[in-house]
Amino acid sequence: MESFSTVIRTASHEQHVEAETSTFMSDLLGGRLGVDAYARYTEQLWFVYQALEAGAERLASDPVAGPFIRPELFRQAALEHDLAHLRGPDWRGGLSALPATRAYADRVRECAEQWPAGYIAHHYTRYLGDLSGGQIIRDKAERTWGFERKGDGVRFYVFDGIDNPAAFKRGYRELLDAVRADDLEKQRIVAECKKAFALNSGVFTALGEEFRLSA
Ligand code: HEM
Repeated sequence: MESFSTVIRTASHEQHVEAETSTFMSDLLGGRLGVDAYARYTEQLWFVYQALEAGAERLASDPVAGPFIRPELFRQAALEHDLAHLRGPDWRGGLSALPATRAYADRVRECAEQWPAGYIAHHYTRYLGDLSGGQIIRDKAERTWGFERKGDGVRFYVFDGIDNPAAFKRGYRELLDAVRADDLEKQRIVAECKKAFALNSGVFTALGEEFRLSA
């Protein structure tokens, strides 16, 4: 039988390709957008990680989601550093969530408060992605907008507490494989993961509309 970590990866593969090749991501990684678009995207991430991490302390003692809560993953502080660099000291004043971002953050918060297993789907979709493709995004951002390597502006992508991301990801997959959920609940987690990818795509679509390149 396939391990749960394989099931969840396979189930989200198609949507992963979709996210990677979305207009906004392609334009961003293709160096076709200004740093303003990158900053706007980083602002949206702030709302998502706010929702992911606000409930983390309480979930740390949860039997299902608890093992996934690892402080070395937390991104909120790094995002705030990046936003101060990108937008200036008053970054909070100009912060606003796109409707798609609000919908995403609301769903994460709902899971964090009411359904710890569903929260795992959101945790996986963001943090394992940040540890993987996030490194490609960081490299591109450094080259395109001239941020210092692993410095201000891209700290979101730098996990100071994780020396070996490949080993960390292996450990993470073991946690997924050992998740305390029966088969039906695992199916629900997979469905929530697909929802998480769709919510990310929704944010990319909205950002793509805001930063449309003239043809
Ligand atoms: C252009 C943008 C992206 C690139 C270039 C990218 C690239 C990658 C790569 C190369 C991996 C494989 C890492 C490995 O096998 O260890 C990966 C894994 C992953 N990515 Fe992305 N990615 C992007 C966007 C996203 C987005 C938007 C999400 C969701 C929000 C996401 C979620 C994930 C997840 C959850 C994994 C882990 C899959 C697993 O091994 O279970 N990625 N990504």
